[in-house]
Amino acid sequence: MTQIYAHPEIEDHFVEYDFAEVRKSPANGSDRDLRHRLMRDYVGEKCVLLRNVKVDYDRDFIAGIKFPHVWAFKKFASRNVEGALPLRRDPVKQEICRELFNNDEGRYRKFEEEVKRVNAAIRGALDEILKDWRVSKRDIVWRHTETRVENLHFDIDNNADAFESVRLYYNMDDVPRIWHTTHGLSQLLAHYYDALDLKTLANQPLERLLHVVSVRLFGNWQSRGREQFPRHMALFEPGDIWIVDGRTVPHQVIYGRRVISTFYRLDHQGMPSWHVPLGKQIAQLHADRAAGKTPAPVPFDMAGYRFPFEGEGPKPPQGTEHGNLKEDWGTIYEESIQQKLVRL
Ligand SMILES: [Fe+2]
Repeated sequence: MTQIYAHPEIEDHFVEYDFAEVRKSPANGSDRDLRHRLMRDYVGEKCVLLRNVKVDYDRDFIAGIKFPHVWAFKKFASRNVEGALPLRRDPVKQEICRELFNNDEGRYRKFEEEVKRVNAAIRGALDEILKDWRVSKRDIVWRHTETRVENLHFDIDNNADAFESVRLYYNMDDVPRIWHTTHGLSQLLAHYYDALDLKTLANQPLERLLHVVSVRLFGNWQSRGREQFPRHMALFEPGDIWIVDGRTVPHQVIYGRRVISTFYRLDHQGMPSWHVPLGKQIAQLHADRAAGKTPAPVPFDMAGYRFPFEGEGPKPPQGTEHGNLKEDWGTIYEESIQQKLVRL
């Protein structure tokens, strides 16, 4: 099961729930309703491990599909194969059939079936947990290409103030998916609000604040792997399912191959009263700061860590810079796996 190498100065934000227990708990929004307790942990910047979700599918078949190392398959939206149109009448499905199965329609159909089975099991679990929320999007992304050493970051959604989201991950590989995580957003804002002069972002969209905090504290894609920030390390084992809000828990994939992740969009109008949208929480923080209220000191000392990165952080060696990640994605991967020592 999941292994955590906890950094002593960072709150241990990993918690665990048994889905069978969640389902058995009274669905009444009380303290005993584990759906709400789990979501309070999610909103409270925890990484929630969810045990005992049954997902039956043909592992060998899925493991045998080679997803090309291009941007389109880095974040493969499974809605492309979930649509009602049959293969013969759906040009997107035909393209997938060509690229993944060399036009073998039988194998494509099997793939579509397996995607639907896995997605149904994952949505079944999330729909149970989110009984008291209004969900307006249930997207699932299949990331079945290798990921190596991302930069530590917050997830950025366009128009992030307008909705909440739930991201669940399911490791479908036969090796662990290795992540780093660090202090949650609220602690980072409490500690760095003045140093990063965040009051200047008071009227900016939430995603702008997340971007600035990410880049100033952790660096950007070009400085990935060179972060100085203290981090936990987590090894999510094959079959592990975890739910974490990437907008409030900074994270970094060090290595991983086959995972799926959900993007559940929650409407603000249909949330339990205790669930305050992140944008509202941040607006309150700006208002408190403007009124001269200072938060309680954080229980860690960041003295000695290299902060802030000047410019955008340490640079990669000359000749390995890439201006357009989407276009160069395949090349970046090829460069990293040469038969010689590679400095990136
Ligand atoms: Fe992310």
